[in-house]
Amino acid sequence: MATVFESAARVENKGLASDYLEEIRLKAMNGAMLVAIIAYISELNIAVPPHEQWISVGASLQNVLLALESFGYKGKIVSGRRVRSNTMRQAFRLKPEEHLVGFVVMGTHSGTTHAYPRKNGHDLLSIWRSD
Ligand SMILES: Cc1cc2nc3c(=O)[nH]c(=O)nc-3n(C[C@H](O)[C@H](O)[C@H](O)COP(=O)(O)O)c2cc1C
Repeated sequence: MATVFESAARVENKGLASDYLEEIRLKAMNGAMLVAIIAYISELNIAVPPHEQWISVGASLQNVLLALESFGYKGKIVSGRRVRSNTMRQAFRLKPEEHLVGFVVMGTHSGTTHAYPRKNGHDLLSIWRSD
């Protein structure tokens, strides 16, 4: 996978420095396991429109993260514009209806967890009241 990451970066930008390319290669080896998330989205499904299919993809991804937590592991979703590149699409032999959403990097968490400011839930939600 590291080779594919590197190829996608090279296609996008021809003049990348070798140490930056090595950084990109290492992204494929950040966790014990890297799982590619490929969504099959049908535009022809009248009963389940694409936005509902995408919601299902997101929900299943969340379940993967929760399952990892429940087994004592950690996971992180990573993506970036290169997951939509032709290099990546060809590497995974994607059909037109298939989309590489990103990857779940997973394994045993060995580093420190950084706390950072979170938005207050009350600022994100609004209460609907009938008139
Ligand atoms: C579809 C998707 C793609 C993401 N891609 C990246 C990414 O490329 N790099 C990154 O640092 N975080 C990415 N994130 C965010 C992280 O997976 C994670 O949600 C974020 O670091 C916050 O995690 P925390 O709230 O558990 O600390 C992505 C999230 C989603 C849902």
